[in-house]
Amino acid sequence: MQPVIQTIELTKDYKDFWGRGHVRALDGLNLEAHRGEVFGLLGPNGSGKTTTVKLLLGLLFPTRGVVRVFGSSPREVDVKERIGYMPEESHLYDYLNARETLDFFGRLFGLPRSERRSRTEALIDMVGLGRARNRAIGEFSKGMARRIGLAQALINDPDLLILDEPTTGLDPIGSGEMKDLIVTLKERGKTIFLCSHLLSDVEQICDRIAILYGGKMRTCGRVNELLTEDSRMLAAIPPLPPEGLEELKKTIRKYSSADESVEITASERRLEDFFLGVVKQAKEERVATAGAESGTGAAEFLKADEQQPEKLVDDLVQEGRKRAKQQEEALREEEAEPAVQEEGEEEDLELIEQLSTAEATKDKEDEESQEPEEDSSEESSDDEQVRSDLLEELVKKGKK
Ligand SMILES: Nc1ncnc2c1ncn2[C@@H]1O[C@H](COP(=O)(O)OP(=O)(O)OP(=O)(O)O)[C@@H](O)[C@H]1O
Ligand SMILES: [Mg+2]
Repeated sequence: MQPVIQTIELTKDYKDFWGRGHVRALDGLNLEAHRGEVFGLLGPNGSGKTTTVKLLLGLLFPTRGVVRVFGSSPREVDVKERIGYMPEESHLYDYLNARETLDFFGRLFGLPRSERRSRTEALIDMVGLGRARNRAIGEFSKGMARRIGLAQALINDPDLLILDEPTTGLDPIGSGEMKDLIVTLKERGKTIFLCSHLLSDVEQICDRIAILYGGKMRTCGRVNELLTEDSRMLAAIPPLPPEGLEELKKTIRKYSSADESVEITASERRLEDFFLGVVKQAKEERVATAGAESGTGAAEFLKADEQQPEKLVDDLVQEGRKRAKQQEEALREEEAEPAVQEEGEEEDLELIEQLSTAEATKDKEDEESQEPEEDSSEESSDDEQVRSDLLEELVKKGKK
């Protein structure tokens, strides 16, 4: 089976001001990730994880070696359309609200209006931001920003999801939900490639891992095989009286040829399980909270199988090809990272300013009319129209 991700001797040198290679961020990386697999890339700070991710996304050119995604260059438009990416830090427009943000990215992928609407609502509920759907992203906490970042990465129903530090900044509930989602997406045939420092999270969800150090791969393999210690066994048993423990130790020594000490101690719960238990109880007791809520599980539209017909509209392909060609040209010129939302950000200030004014006016009117929040979500008012027109202009700029 063709690997979803393949790198051969992948090497990246970052250049200094004078255009000379001065940092070898990645050195001869060989790895493969397959369909339906959760692959984790680990390594200390500065070991080359984000550089690998950027190479997989076609945001950087390799200095040497090959990178293939779905068998092609990651800069091919049909490949890009099958990838969802959640960066280490999402750079989103602060003045757009959660719905507008997802609508914006849906438009960049050329999704039709009805599809954008249904996906936006489903994803917002899925990541537990239902109550914050009309709040500006700039007001979001770090964990809320992570959640909208994930929703944004899924708007195109990708076959490959690339996540840079997916659980960082999330509370244990959010982190648990993120892990559940990753596993659900994997069960639906998607491939997930993630970087993380949170080893217990990686241990729980990754099928295979690679560990980088100084840009070189130190080890790669299946998590359960790498972590199995053939020389020791662990047993979970009910509490025994002292004489029972003595009997047990005698029996173990009788069957164990190794002359090593037998340790029997009280079993400890993991802090994560303990924490989740306490929160679950608070929820059952209906204790009020103004923070993030639990998400609703994977959204229906995230397709179950790669064989299903492609849902993206036909003209997306043409539109995307045009965009990729422009991007390719820009890349060749400066070999930089052309993050869509960073490009022309300065020029967008005026538009954003107008959006923010529209929002302020709307807030004021909402306050005056004392209308419940649900009503303000209807897209019928003039202000909504103004915001929608301004959003349209931002999308046009984003596509460029
Ligand atoms: N744009 C850049 N210009 C020059 N050097 C860079 C650039 N980006 C990264 N590097 C260097 O490349 C090396 C690898 O960086 P990278 O960001 O890939 O590490 P990382 O494993 O993602 O680290 P972290 O865990 O801190 O996110 C580091 O030495 C870093 O300083
Ligand atoms: Mg990084």
